[in-house]
Amino acid sequence: MTNSALNRPVRKAVFPVAGLGTRFLPASKSVPKEMLTVVDMPVIQYAVNEAREAGIEHFVFVTGRNKGVIEDYFDVQPELKATLKARNKAEMLDVLADSQPEPGKTSFTRQQEPLGLGHAVWCARDIVGDEPFALLLPDMVMKSSNGGCLKSLMGVYDDTGGNVIAVEECDPQEVSNYGVIKKGRTIGAGFEIHDMVEKPMPEDAPSNLFINGRYILQPEIFRLLENQETGAGGEIQLTDAMLRLCETQPFHGYKFEGASYDCGSKEGFIAANVAFALEREDTGPIVRKIIEDMLGR
Ligand code: UTP
Repeated sequence: MTNSALNRPVRKAVFPVAGLGTRFLPASKSVPKEMLTVVDMPVIQYAVNEAREAGIEHFVFVTGRNKGVIEDYFDVQPELKATLKARNKAEMLDVLADSQPEPGKTSFTRQQEPLGLGHAVWCARDIVGDEPFALLLPDMVMKSSNGGCLKSLMGVYDDTGGNVIAVEECDPQEVSNYGVIKKGRTIGAGFEIHDMVEKPMPEDAPSNLFINGRYILQPEIFRLLENQETGAGGEIQLTDAMLRLCETQPFHGYKFEGASYDCGSKEGFIAANVAFALEREDTGPIVRKIIEDMLGR
């Protein structure tokens, strides 16, 4: 494979949203966790906005049972639009327009059983086709003052091509919650990745740099996922297939400097709500007051 084949533009992004979200039961019985809001915007919208900011043109959602409302959310609501127009609610109409992908720019496919993240990604293979793609785990909501995480990842990809993944530092004692990488030589804004381990014990971890849920991957990953055996947790693990891809293709990393919130966990979800609400004009003052009152008590 020539280098230029590994350097093609990234036009599509995959959003796996088929997980059961058991950490958000009972809410996730009927509300997909991706539709829970950070302040007033569903978690999924943050990831879509980040992808849009990075220049992504087509949005591929891998959904599951009870997730149909995600497809409805990205549709137009003519009655709502007409009512807002009749009431001169121009600001709300702008909010709706901003959240709306262009017609024909979304695709939805189903992961019929939640067999793991690797399997969910594999379910997008026909829609993505033979081209590199971005992968965003919507649970991870990113906050950055310096452009979105995927946009920075694209910057590294422009220099390196191949496969690029974003990482962040964590407490070394917490590595067993994550996929962790071994860092090599620095190249521009990124660095080589020599190894990856899914959920290692702290004493076996190659670093405290964890994979934070933003990737650019070459389509060969689909072929490897096709026959990937189950790994940690009895699930088909994306990290296992990436490790095999690493043997034939370059992998680079980018260290994200902003903050990420794991909105698939209660702690991360609450932290994201506080962090985003604090910096907004409409909600910041009340959140600050609550915190000050509680600390003063
Ligand atoms: P998680 O392991 O965090 O999600 O998957 P989960 O299984 O939904 O959550 P819990 O542990 O039961 O609370 C990370 C991402 O991968 C997707 C999830 O939707 C989430 O975006 N995923 C996971 C799938 O799409 N399919 C799967 O089989 C597993």
